[in-house]
Order: sequence, then structure tokens, then C-alpha cells
Amino acid sequence: MKYTYLDCLALFGVGGAHPGGLQLTKKILAKENINGDTALLEVGCGTGQTAAYLAQQYGCSVSALDNNSIMVEKAQQRFSSLDLPIDAKVGDTENLPYPDKKFDIVLSESVISFTNLISTIPEIKRVLKQNGKLLAIETVLEQSIPEEERSQIVDFYSFPQLLTEGEWVKAFRDAEFHRIDATKYEPRLEQVDEQHAADYSLSETIDDALLEIQGKHEEIMQRNKDKLGFRIFRCS
Ligand SMILES: C[S@@+](CC[C@H](N)C(=O)[O-])C[C@H]1O[C@@H](n2cnc3c(N)ncnc32)[C@H](O)[C@@H]1O
Repeated sequence: MKYTYLDCLALFGVGGAHPGGLQLTKKILAKENINGDTALLEVGCGTGQTAAYLAQQYGCSVSALDNNSIMVEKAQQRFSSLDLPIDAKVGDTENLPYPDKKFDIVLSESVISFTNLISTIPEIKRVLKQNGKLLAIETVLEQSIPEEERSQIVDFYSFPQLLTEGEWVKAFRDAEFHRIDATKYEPRLEQVDEQHAADYSLSETIDDALLEIQGKHEEIMQRNKDKLGFRIFRCS
């Protein structure tokens, strides 16, 4: 069987599978006004590390969605072991199973990049309330690269697109977000401590091919460290 990078994350059950991990998540969320009345959707929730933190820290209403059923199962296990009332379901960001104007905040931690954003961003806008916000940590192309290198990255991650910061901003504007702030994430400035290290919820069988994929991911990230970057987008 040929696994994708996202299969690998699901089978390892990596929690906090985004740049900066839970430590960056906490910093981003601390700047928002989140309380018991806030309705929040986390798209591409993975194993639910952030959704669980949100419910525990802020007591807000959390919905969580991922299109990978292994991820959703692991997230549900986490929520029930912590007795958290989080609605987690399998679903696609490109066709969100929620009514219009339901959420105050939608959070995407390294998720929109993996989807067809021409469908995903308007869907997120649709489910946000009038004054709702999208918070997203996403991959950007920092400089132009030869087509061969670009294809290698896009193929490995199955990215439908790989955008510059300006192209991201245009995509948000096209979906009627009017205020877009983009902050560069500088991984080298962060020291990840034990409390914020990624957590794992391993599936029963771990194939050697998954270790190869993990190795290839690290190699691609290292080789392209000046070409691939990350932005924290805040769109309203
Ligand atoms: C890099 S992982 C990040 C997971 C999680 N946000 C975290 O930080 O740990 C990307 C996640 O997006 C999910 N995903 C990818 N495409 C999706 C789509 N079209 N709809 C919903 N989820 C999707 C994957 O299954 C995976 O869980």
C-alpha cells in the first residue's frame, strides 16, 4: 500500500501536527476574546489536541471536523477520556456540514493548504457569523523555485496548490474577508518544551513505509527551509 503524508500523521496519531505545535496555538488563541459563549469550529482537527485545549481552557462550544476517519476516531477517544462535550465528525472542509453563520471563530492549523482552497475558503466564510474570524496557520512559498522542486513538494504533500503570501491574501479577499493580517512564523525562535511536545496515539500496526515518509518529510522541510515558510493568517 502506498501511504500519503497525511495517512502517516493519522496512523502515528500525531497531535499538534502543525508548525509551532500547541505552544503557538496557545499564543494565537490568547489574543482572541474567547469565552463560554463562543462557538468555535476547528477544521482538520487531527487527533483533537487543540480542540480539547479550547474546551478545557475557555469552556467554549467546540465543533471539530476532519476528513480522515482514523483522525476523528482518535480525537473522539481523546474527548471521551477527558469527558469533553466536543462534537467531532468526519467531513470535508470543501463542503462543511454546518448551517450558515454558525460560528464565531474557525480555526485551521495546517489544513487549508491540503485542500482545494477555492472551495474551502468560501465554505469557511459561509459558516462564520457576520463578525466571525478565521485563524489559520498555513504554508507559504517564500521565493520562486524551479518547477521540478515545486512538483516534488506539491506531490509529496498532495497540496492542490502552493501559494505565496500575496496569493493567500488574494484568495481570502476573493471570499469576502475584508481585513487580513499575516504574521510570519519563525520556527527558529521557538524552544519547544516538554509540556508542548507533540503527542502520539499510535495505530496498532506501524508499517516501515510510514517511517520512510516521516524521514522524507523531514528531508523536504530541511532542504526547503528558506523556500517554504508559514504564516498565521487572521481574517475577518
Ligand atoms: C497537517 S494535519 C494537521 C492536523 C491538526 N490540525 C493538527 O495541527 O494536529 C492536516 C489535517 O487536515 C485534515 N484534512 C486534510 N484535508 C481535509 C479536508 N478536505 N477536509 C477536512 N480535513 C482535511 C487531515 O486529515 C489532517 O488531519
